[in-house]
Amino acid sequence: MPELSPDDAKRLAAGKALELVIPGMRLGLGTGTTAAHFVALLGERVAKGLDVICVPSSERTRTLASLYSIPLTSIDASPELDLTVDGADEFDPNLRLIKGGGGALLREKIVAMASKRMIVITDSSKSVAVLGKFPLPVEVNVFGLEVTKRMILAAARASGCDGEIRLRKTPGGQAFVSDNGHYIVDCFLGAIADPDRLADRLAAIPGVVEHGLFIGIAKAVISAGPAGIEIFGQLD
Ligand code: A5P
Repeated sequence: MPELSPDDAKRLAAGKALELVIPGMRLGLGTGTTAAHFVALLGERVAKGLDVICVPSSERTRTLASLYSIPLTSIDASPELDLTVDGADEFDPNLRLIKGGGGALLREKIVAMASKRMIVITDSSKSVAVLGKFPLPVEVNVFGLEVTKRMILAAARASGCDGEIRLRKTPGGQAFVSDNGHYIVDCFLGAIADPDRLADRLAAIPGVVEHGLFIGIAKAVISAGPAGIEIFGQLD
């Protein structure tokens, strides 16, 4: 196989996921560079007459999907979805994910959990034995930021990991604000020994709106790399 760039790999994975789409489906659209490939490919099919209705997981994806004239609706108008296709920052052998590098984790999780199936598309660099090299994004309430950061650190320590919790900033140095009006903190933990325990502890913190650990949500990961396409889990 000729040299495959990470971007080619993302498009390849997106193309494989597109094979799962059938007319009449209600789709959740993910966020990020890999999900953007899926939106573009879906847009080509829609232009040729494919009938689907989609819920975007971010304002960015809404804008992109609109450019392709993909029919959109809201999650409230369509609270039951057939399939969500989204990227990930990391996935482990148990199909546990870190998501939120693009800051859309809350809507991504709501949309994924409203779906009968969430299929993840990635390039093969996202595969890890242990989650946590990628800083774990956590969406937090603006009120009580310092208290919440301390509680997140305590939760990490109680779950067997440690590190630094940093408020995400824009390139201009302002606090990054999510589509939902919240801040994001990135947890530089290095390795998350027990993601399930950490997820439970983070969910119990009042200032945590949602965390970027997706556990028991993805049905399969389509991973593309120099060796071609690998499927982890069940696509159907
Ligand atoms: C967006 O908030 C994220 O969850 C993305 O899905 C994730 O960061 C993967 O992004 P890329 O496809 O751009 O790597």
